[in-house]
Amino acid sequence: MNLAALQATAAALFADDRGLLAMDESNGTCNQRFAELGVPQTEAARRAYREMLVTTPRLGEAISGAILYDETIRQSTAAGVPFVKVLEGAGIIPGIKVDLGARPLAAHPGETVTEGLDGLRERFAEYASMGARFAKWRAVINLGAGLPSQGCLDANAHALARYAALAQEAGLAPIVEPEVLATGDETLETCRAVTEAVLQAVFDQLRRQQVALEGMILKPNMVTPGLARPAQDGVDAVAAATVDCLRRAAPAAVPGIAFLSGGQSDQLASARLNAMAILRKSADARLPWALSFSYGRALQRAALELWRGDPAQVPAAQRALLHRAQCNRAARQGEYTAQMEPA
Ligand code: G3H
Repeated sequence: MNLAALQATAAALFADDRGLLAMDESNGTCNQRFAELGVPQTEAARRAYREMLVTTPRLGEAISGAILYDETIRQSTAAGVPFVKVLEGAGIIPGIKVDLGARPLAAHPGETVTEGLDGLRERFAEYASMGARFAKWRAVINLGAGLPSQGCLDANAHALARYAALAQEAGLAPIVEPEVLATGDETLETCRAVTEAVLQAVFDQLRRQQVALEGMILKPNMVTPGLARPAQDGVDAVAAATVDCLRRAAPAAVPGIAFLSGGQSDQLASARLNAMAILRKSADARLPWALSFSYGRALQRAALELWRGDPAQVPAAQRALLHRAQCNRAARQGEYTAQMEPA
């Protein structure tokens, strides 16, 4: 394992207050979002959409890396330039999602385990030859009565660690993404307690599988109340709970933490990250890792709604994507304000 190269990739992904664009939706998820907007669910439409994203002018000012999907890393612009080359030309590091999705976990009703370890060494070799320099694997932890079970945490943590070790062997910096799905009326405290237990299980397994913590990136959920909870805690409470949880559970050796957006509104995702950056500046909250964003929906939502498959809307959609990226870069600096948003 070339730890120096892995560390250099991780450092570059957090440099200059830039963040990650997660554009690694599976075909199924992408099609579902297209269907809601009346966009044809075809390979051609997905390619055109991803071309709109990667050719956004000045995107590299705020985005350091883009996570691609297996279909997307093989695609090119209409003019025949591979997306990987477009990204590299814009100063954006290409990455690849390598998990094959969450499947029901046997004997654990309501819970899933993420699959994709079989043949992963060979897939990593191919992705590396195509230019990917980092990778992503997402585990999904459902909440509910009696959930999550320790069996679910152990199975997902083990798979994440096996994936991360293979990624480092192949020279790709692994993004380790355990997502606690707080989509119901869960309290902030429930999300905090479960997230801490999940991270503890994940780091136990990462150590056991000999993963170099210095050469990886953690991509957790923020600690939030459930999306459907009528009374939402304030931005500062979410920021404090998230930072407290991470201080207890994320080792200082990890260079950086890049949050997923998890269905939060675009503006909340920026405001909560911003509140963490402000916390970081306070004397009593010195934090060992960089804090950043690796958003999917909270970066793409506005652009997709403008684009809707219409080539004439590409410039407007690209402006919307760049705007969100710039808002989140400002949030990393603690300089995001609601005044940055259009009236
Ligand atoms: O796996 C999920 C993506 O990487 C992040 O997506 O920001 O929409 O939660 P999200």
